Amino acid sequence: MKKYFIKTYGCQMNQADSLVVSRILDEAGFKNVKNLKEADVILILTCAVREHAERRALGQIFSLSSLKKKKRCLIGILGCMARTLKERLIDGCLKEGLFDFLLGPDAYRRLPEIIENKFKNYEDRPIAIIEEEKETYSDILPQINYEGIEGFVTIMRGCDNFCSYCIVPYVRGRERSRPISSIIKEIDFLLSKGKKLITLLGQNVFGYKNIENGRILNFADLLTNIFEKFSNLKYLHFLTSHPKDLSFELIEKISKLMKEGKLFKELHLPLQSGSNRILKLMNRKYTREEYYEKVKYLKELIPEISITTDLIVGFPTETEEDYEATLEMVRKIEFDFAYMFKYSERPYTKAREIFPKVEEEVKQERLEKLISLQNDITKRKNEEMINKSYPIIIIKVQNKESLGRLPNNKLAVVKEELEVGKEYIIKIIKIDGWTPIGEIIK
Ligand code: SAH
Ligand code: SF4
Ligand code: F3S
Repeated sequence: MKKYFIKTYGCQMNQADSLVVSRILDEAGFKNVKNLKEADVILILTCAVREHAERRALGQIFSLSSLKKKKRCLIGILGCMARTLKERLIDGCLKEGLFDFLLGPDAYRRLPEIIENKFKNYEDRPIAIIEEEKETYSDILPQINYEGIEGFVTIMRGCDNFCSYCIVPYVRGRERSRPISSIIKEIDFLLSKGKKLITLLGQNVFGYKNIENGRILNFADLLTNIFEKFSNLKYLHFLTSHPKDLSFELIEKISKLMKEGKLFKELHLPLQSGSNRILKLMNRKYTREEYYEKVKYLKELIPEISITTDLIVGFPTETEEDYEATLEMVRKIEFDFAYMFKYSERPYTKAREIFPKVEEEVKQERLEKLISLQNDITKRKNEEMINKSYPIIIIKVQNKESLGRLPNNKLAVVKEELEVGKEYIIKIIKIDGWTPIGEIIK
């Protein structure tokens, strides 16, 4: 029986894809191993979103080439870097022999066949398949080979938004949604395997759209269907959401479900920039005012909601004034948490043609200042929870400590061994670094 090893980089969608890959290989008679040295097939599931992510995966690929000299094994590169690597291979920028095959995110069904073929024709040149199919892997249940009570369900693939900085639409193809029935089936499967906290995944879940029985079903319909089917399901979560597609009607729907405890009281709503001029250049299709109004309404309906975001500094042409506008939004909205990035130039994207670029030192300076501002806010927001009590659902127990999620989806630690999957009531007694520390009160 051939053994395979998978190393996954990138976002949760890649993590979810790795479970689809696992299922495909397990069904074809392969065996998953956790140790790279035991494997006959080494798969690297890559991310291309920023240069840094790409460099990390490339480093890993280069370090594997020595292994190939020692034993007969295959190295396969999957995921979002497949397209760029294929092009580099064709134009000769990348030497052959680093890997045996390249498969884009929509070509994973071909894995067993390709592996077999490559073992037979071991010395052949690398194979590269980047299919632009309407693949959704709807009929493939993910392999559950990980511990814990958190489960992820990809509800849509690809992206049609073409934010001008972003490579995702070029490497993951066009947006397509999975039928509700297959999503329900997968949730059912995850619940039957002991998963309790389900996260729905998509590049923009608010763009979910599927036609069933002649009716167009959107994200709100999907939520309705899920909760009709699983009336006891609590703390559902979804990632990520585009602010342009968050209507006031959807805000009302989501906040109702949050109040009922069906959804975590958290929304990840990437702002990217606080400057209207930059937002326009980014092709984000909303203004800072519109974004602010939506967040304000959400906070009115759910005052304890946690709002998290993504921010980019140093987008081409960003001036001090544009950057200040981002800082101002951060101060005004007070995000609970933010992922902050320096703009990174990506192949195929429109932003490549926008000049002048912002100098590296300026980007670094802007990032550091932004991180420091946001860190203070994150800490202050967490400190607001001190002396308040919350339910907590335990997701992990390690070193006599329990880690759990609060209703706002923040992680908290209780310094005793509790039961994974069970809910307790705790009081937050202090903030350690950023982490809320709680004590059981019931
Ligand atoms: N689909 C998701 C985001 C996927 S990428 C969404 O729209 O929310 C995750 C984050 O990476 C983005 O929100 C953005 O902040 C950041 N990002 C994407 N491309 C980038 C680039 N070229 N440079 C820097 N950050 C980038
Ligand atoms: Fe990229 Fe924008 Fe699509 Fe998100 S919505 S994946 S940032 S193009
Ligand atoms: Fe990276 Fe692809 Fe996700 S580029 S962020 S792994 S969609």
